[in-house]
Amino acid sequence: MHHLADRFVPVVEEEMRQLLAEAARGGSLPWDDFLDAWYRVVRRVVFGDHARDDKDLTAMIIRLRKDGTWAFLRPKRRKVRTAFLRRVADEVADAEPGSLAAVMAAAPKGDGAEPAEQVPQWLFAFDPAGMAAFRALTVFATHPEAMAAARREADADTSGRRFLPYLRASILESLRLWPTTPMILRQSTRPVEWADGTMPADCGVLLYAPYFHRDDRHLRDAHGFSPERWLTDEDDGWPLVPFSDGPVVCPGKQLVLLLTSAALAFVVGDHDLRVGRGQHLDPSHPLPGTLDNYSVALSVSPRS
Ligand code: HEM
Repeated sequence: MHHLADRFVPVVEEEMRQLLAEAARGGSLPWDDFLDAWYRVVRRVVFGDHARDDKDLTAMIIRLRKDGTWAFLRPKRRKVRTAFLRRVADEVADAEPGSLAAVMAAAPKGDGAEPAEQVPQWLFAFDPAGMAAFRALTVFATHPEAMAAARREADADTSGRRFLPYLRASILESLRLWPTTPMILRQSTRPVEWADGTMPADCGVLLYAPYFHRDDRHLRDAHGFSPERWLTDEDDGWPLVPFSDGPVVCPGKQLVLLLTSAALAFVVGDHDLRVGRGQHLDPSHPLPGTLDNYSVALSVSPRS
């Protein structure tokens, strides 16, 4: 449980309430609207409430990332980068209490530490969290059994949306099915013995997560939605690694699970969902290898 959970969960609640009120009026919740609300959550969590509507900050990192994807094929946007990092440095220097920036500002720093340069990773790493949450909602909209289990947990919750094991597991399951970090990179530091030979030191290793995540020779219901697998030891010893694993496991994992599970609880607790537009998922068929969240719009109405 993140030590700022008591501050962050009400932020998620406020933003989901506003989002759903608008969605229920229009009857539709497209990805773009969900993402706008999610970015408001992210800015409030990372920088504090004053940054809630600072869309320019988000727009800057989106522009940088769009070009970054092309690596050396695109010229560097030095001006935007400098302006963006200056904004982030100002935010960290004058951090709002109760934000992640304030936690960073108070952390001990070693020589050469550049705390503000960690923050871009936090900001962009929240995008896949929004995707995983929206994809889980798309599954709930089409899988009555999963929806019923999610609602049972949301209705019986006594933790104030802070500890929701089934909904956390639903996010992990969404990331297992559609990993947002499909490749994990390592380099061997010494020779490693395998059953059929020795891998030398300094060898680059690429772990392709979807290969393991969907391996139906080793996993029960590999192409179905089964959050229960994360609540038992049935897959222990098999690499399901949406947040990686080991000494550099994603340090944002628990925070992501806290915020996204709270968001799911607020949505499914009070609303009925259907897929209005986009890929329709069918519980009696294997789930597809990719799920295009960009083209999904959920139909939303008050819970019957
Ligand atoms: C669904 C959302 C996210 C997923 C799936 C995810 C997944 C991952 C993965 C697979 C890695 C690579 C670790 C490795 O090399 O083995 C990683 C690293 C990292 N993540 Fe996340 N992440 C998410 C969100 C976040 C958030 C929101 C934050 C910060 C607030 C964050 C902070 C980091 C940092 C700082 C690292 C680098 C760790 C290191 O190299 O020591 N992540 N994440």
